[in-house]
Amino acid sequence: MDKKFTTSSFIKSKNEGRKISMLTAYDYSTAKILDESGVDSILVGDSLGMVVLGYEDTTRVTMDDMVHHIKAVVRGTKRALVIGDMPFMTYHTGKYESVKNAGRLIQEGGCKAVKLEGGEEFIEDIYHIIKAGIPVAGHLGYTPQSVNIFGGHKVQGKTIEGARKILKDAIALQQAGAFTIVLECVPFKLAEFISKKLTIPTIGIGSGAGCDGQVLVIHDAVGLYRDFSPKHAKKYVDVGKIMEDATISYIHETQHGVFPTPNNSYTMDDEILDILEGEFK
Ligand code: KIV
Repeated sequence: MDKKFTTSSFIKSKNEGRKISMLTAYDYSTAKILDESGVDSILVGDSLGMVVLGYEDTTRVTMDDMVHHIKAVVRGTKRALVIGDMPFMTYHTGKYESVKNAGRLIQEGGCKAVKLEGGEEFIEDIYHIIKAGIPVAGHLGYTPQSVNIFGGHKVQGKTIEGARKILKDAIALQQAGAFTIVLECVPFKLAEFISKKLTIPTIGIGSGAGCDGQVLVIHDAVGLYRDFSPKHAKKYVDVGKIMEDATISYIHETQHGVFPTPNNSYTMDDEILDILEGEFK
């Protein structure tokens, strides 16, 4: 478990039939817990915009936001592969901007790979980012940066046109050199079909067990984000409730003088207080 998980480990895992585990993180302490628990990969997702920054969707997240949070996650991670999300409008205006922004996430943020949403329409950008030496993870199906086109959080690929487009995009991403593809909210039979067609691993979120790995937003997995909980997410623990109970206890104990106790306090020589009392009568 000490050996670093790399982009090659993604492919190796698929070849060996070993499922890949990925979770999101946005700060040092969370990244450290996930890494020490043995997760294979940490995604600093632009879900940051909602679960950490309180925006209604991911479209407001900036490059500076991403660099800031990637740096914190990288400091907390020893083994897992850290992937940084490219925010909305940072790979949409030409290959020069795309390569420059992907380079910033690697050079300033310190992550080892970038993820971006979309298929054939961004193939040239993806090709040039990879040519610059930066590993790329694709993201197909429901792509949250296009929420205003989709008109909400909706399953993609239910029609023959939709399913064909996702499959063709996945093949194009693989041919361009992507090392993995996140499939978000794709019907599980289609996700399984695509996973079998590809030589690179798929990482599913809301796309069933036939994918080569899974990713969850950590706030969904531990119950920290209460505004919205997608059907596909599993809450392993309700940290939000634990925090709420702890906060209520803290307020009560503070108001009633129960906290702090001597155990939570620091001592000093009584002599010093005697001197002060003499000086400030
Ligand atoms: O931003 C994010 O957290 C993501 C995952 C949902 C895959 O892209």
